[in-house]
Amino acid sequence: MKAITWHGPQDVRYEEVPDARIEEPTDAVVRITSTGLCGSDLHLYGPLAPFMTEGDVIGHEPMGIVEQVGSAVENLAVGDRVVVPFNISCQRCWMCRRGLNSQCETTQNREEGTGASLFGYSRLYGAVPGGQAELLRVPFADTLPVKVPVGPSDDRFVFLSDVLPTAWQAVEYAGVGEGDTVVVLGGGPIGAMAARIAAHRNVRVIVAEPDEHRRSRLESRGVDTLPAGPTDALAAAVRDRTDGRGPDAVIDAVGMEAHGSPVAAAAHKVAEKLPGPLGRPLMKSAGVDRLEALTNAIEIVRRGGTISISGVYGGATDPLPLMQLFDKQVQLRMGQANVRAWTDDILPLLTADDDPLGTEDFATHHLGLDEAPEAYRAFRDKEPGVVKVVFHP
Ligand SMILES: NC(=O)c1ccc[n+]([C@@H]2O[C@H](COP(=O)([O-])OP(=O)(O)OC[C@H]3O[C@@H](n4cnc5c(N)ncnc54)[C@H](O)[C@@H]3O)[C@@H](O)[C@H]2O)c1
Ligand SMILES: [Zn+2]
Ligand SMILES: [Zn+2]
Repeated sequence: MKAITWHGPQDVRYEEVPDARIEEPTDAVVRITSTGLCGSDLHLYGPLAPFMTEGDVIGHEPMGIVEQVGSAVENLAVGDRVVVPFNISCQRCWMCRRGLNSQCETTQNREEGTGASLFGYSRLYGAVPGGQAELLRVPFADTLPVKVPVGPSDDRFVFLSDVLPTAWQAVEYAGVGEGDTVVVLGGGPIGAMAARIAAHRNVRVIVAEPDEHRRSRLESRGVDTLPAGPTDALAAAVRDRTDGRGPDAVIDAVGMEAHGSPVAAAAHKVAEKLPGPLGRPLMKSAGVDRLEALTNAIEIVRRGGTISISGVYGGATDPLPLMQLFDKQVQLRMGQANVRAWTDDILPLLTADDDPLGTEDFATHHLGLDEAPEAYRAFRDKEPGVVKVVFHP
């Protein structure tokens, strides 16, 4: 089968790899029809390079048609249309039963000290072959894939693998409701979808994003935006719009590769070039996140407010202004999305006639899988208009 494989920092390739196949009687193999390119893939393209192995199949936002099921699978049949959540969770363990699917105790990576395995996401998360491929092996076939109806286009459902539940959890963790105000840092796919979900719940939303093309795209849907410039200017602009107090919550939809953190950016460049055995301990033990977005979140959130972090961070000794956090009485929630815990809540919005979250025009690019190497580069460089790419293998 053809797949996208990792070969080094800024080097992904479209190439032939062995077909995905049933390995356990509880597996299914899905023929992928749509598969997204995510901001998280960019971390593999750069700072998480020390945790990658040449030839790893990447991608974690797939959907498609079931092609084969293992002998013990009862709830899934060949021909079913499914979306595959990016975290691999069993739905049976202590964590899964509490809706903490990203901490699944059946797939946790104890040697690495990390949570549930993820599709296509480095040795930190199980080194499981990913979904930017023609075929994908899906474990826990009875309970992990989300069955979706046949008929509507893939665009309605494909974002259920990651963007929708991640943005949904960001808004849930922000703890905002009707009449509250949330500032979303980052107007990429996650920030844009979090803004749509918050607005759908009648929460007032302001998105701060440095890129003017991304801001205009948001504005064309009626979203209030701000340029995400230096901290003082951003904080003043936000306070101006929030009675001098700051928003009830801030969602950080940026993560470790924020613009405006030059020292950490340089450290990333060093770590990603080192061979794995040297780069891994450096990434795990040194404070190498680019913290611009998070420190801005701490600065602008109102006293007693909440910061909800969905941007991915990876540093172990990041310096944080604890006095400010404590004194402002800030609540912090964060983590990988517990995808399967939210999908049943989201699905009815995707099948609704009026498509309230605008899934049908959310992707900016529909490309062949062979176009992925160029798309990774354009997405990383934030080329104007390249916001959400979906590949069709
Ligand atoms: N928690 C999860 O389960 C989960 C799931 C998916 C993605 N993510 C993470 O969410 C983050 C966003 O993903 P995405 O797909 O939207 O990626 P993206 O890279 O397209 O979006 C990031 C956006 O942040 C903007 N930005 C950069 N620096 C900023 C700053 N200082 N202030 C405000 N905005 C800034 C960029 O211009 C960009 O538009 C990534 O870190 C990704 O890894 C987390
Ligand atoms: Zn993703
Ligand atoms: Zn589990």
